[in-house]
Amino acid sequence: MPKKPKQVVEVKLNGMTHAPQPEFSLPGPDLRVYVGDCRNCLARIPEVKSKSVDLVFADPPFNWNRAYDKWDDKMPREDYLKFTAEWLDLCVDALTPAGSMWVNIPDDTAAEIVLHMKGRGMFMVNWCIWHYRFGQNTIDKFISSHVHALYFCKNPAKRTWNAKEILEPSDRATTYFDPRTQSKKDGMPPGMRVPMDVWYGKFWGRIQGNNTERRANHDNQLPEVYLERVIRACSNEGDLVLDPFLGSGTTGVIAHALKRRFIGTEFSIDNAKSAFARIVEGPVRLGAGAGLSTAIHAPRRVTAGAGRKPGAGASTKLLDDES
Ligand SMILES: C[S@@+](CC[C@H](N)C(=O)[O-])C[C@H]1O[C@@H](n2cnc3c(N)ncnc32)[C@H](O)[C@@H]1O
Repeated sequence: MPKKPKQVVEVKLNGMTHAPQPEFSLPGPDLRVYVGDCRNCLARIPEVKSKSVDLVFADPPFNWNRAYDKWDDKMPREDYLKFTAEWLDLCVDALTPAGSMWVNIPDDTAAEIVLHMKGRGMFMVNWCIWHYRFGQNTIDKFISSHVHALYFCKNPAKRTWNAKEILEPSDRATTYFDPRTQSKKDGMPPGMRVPMDVWYGKFWGRIQGNNTERRANHDNQLPEVYLERVIRACSNEGDLVLDPFLGSGTTGVIAHALKRRFIGTEFSIDNAKSAFARIVEGPVRLGAGAGLSTAIHAPRRVTAGAGRKPGAGASTKLLDDES
């Protein structure tokens, strides 16, 4: 049977202001999944209307003509930009005064999003890069191996930031044995630091092949470690997390496991159903990335007798350069 052509839904609220009914929900902590175009649902969800969302994480369709279950991922550029501005605005408007918002987006539209968010008065905290090593092969240009993880907040003085929840060993400790890292003056534990703004390493690859995390019928799934870092750093237990593009449900899975309240919207009923089942099953790698070093150089040799233990003392001397 020929497949029905996909259609982008024109959003017309037509005075429809009643709260939408969630398709799936869980109690304690409260979790709801709504099915529909996020631009249609969001404006009618009570917590969005009352600006009670603490953290938004959005991984929108990239307009790369991907075979989503229902969504048409090949809009004319102008329509895509209009769509992007509409959902960005709804999410910004949903935030509390201390709220934060992350957007996962490739090169094509990162600049437009940054400009739009700054125009909305959002403060840019970090422009992070998610680096993966399994990109689409290209021979006429460099192989793309990253997506942007854009981190904004409404008010830098009020934002939630839990540095100690996301620490990793510093290269100075694991690679260079710099004794200064063992008595830190920045309040962080010995040998540990906040991760850098380029994210990669064990469990950070794209979810594909026989990856343990992989869900059937989703080829845009983000790794659990990514959402764990964002949610731990930028929200607290009991906070409300919103993902307008639920997909396979990664944000909901991690938010629920970390005892945050959660609202997700998803255009495809089948995706929403599968995401909800995954949320009920729970994460497969929660905590697995904690404390892993992302150092890329082998530990540097030290002079004879100086020892290799971190904090070996003033006699430790690096023989190699520190590049
Ligand atoms: C890039 S995927 C999200 C992947 C997700 N972060 C994960 O880890 O699985 C985008 C999802 O957004 C959904 N979607 C696209 N347009 C939408 C819209 N206007 N409202 C709600 N969901 C939409 C698609 O069906 C798709 O499942």
